[in-house]
Amino acid sequence: MTQPLHSRRTALVTVGGTTLAVCLAGCSAAPATGGTAGGATTAGTGAGTTIKAAEVPEGSGTIVGSYVVTQPKKGTFEAFGSLCTHQKQPVQQVTDAAIVCGRHGSTFSLADGSVLTGPATTALTKATVTLSGDTLTIS
Ligand code: FES
Repeated sequence: MTQPLHSRRTALVTVGGTTLAVCLAGCSAAPATGGTAGGATTAGTGAGTTIKAAEVPEGSGTIVGSYVVTQPKKGTFEAFGSLCTHQKQPVQQVTDAAIVCGRHGSTFSLADGSVLTGPATTALTKATVTLSGDTLTIS
């Protein structure tokens, strides 16, 4: 009589453990994050973010970490914070015409981050970009 009770308890624990494991797996899944618009390799975010200069398309740019890096003309690199100045949403795309926030449609200049079309009214925050060898460091 004891054996079936023990078996039942073991089964319940096992079922409980399995259920918990399933719940943990289902509840702990991290949401998918957006990728970089230009296909760049993200080497980090925040201060000291690096990217190979060759990964920044001439006449366009890319999003790397919390920055947008552009190359408005060959060999000239600019960097800006990637948060749109309208409602602080991350910009999503860099085209050959502009840095684009798809949230409400603001666009910003590749050369200086100024507003091309609103609703944003303030330029993107300028960041510092330095070229050393073939690597850009943005901060
Ligand atoms: S948050 Fe970018 S346009 Fe509104």
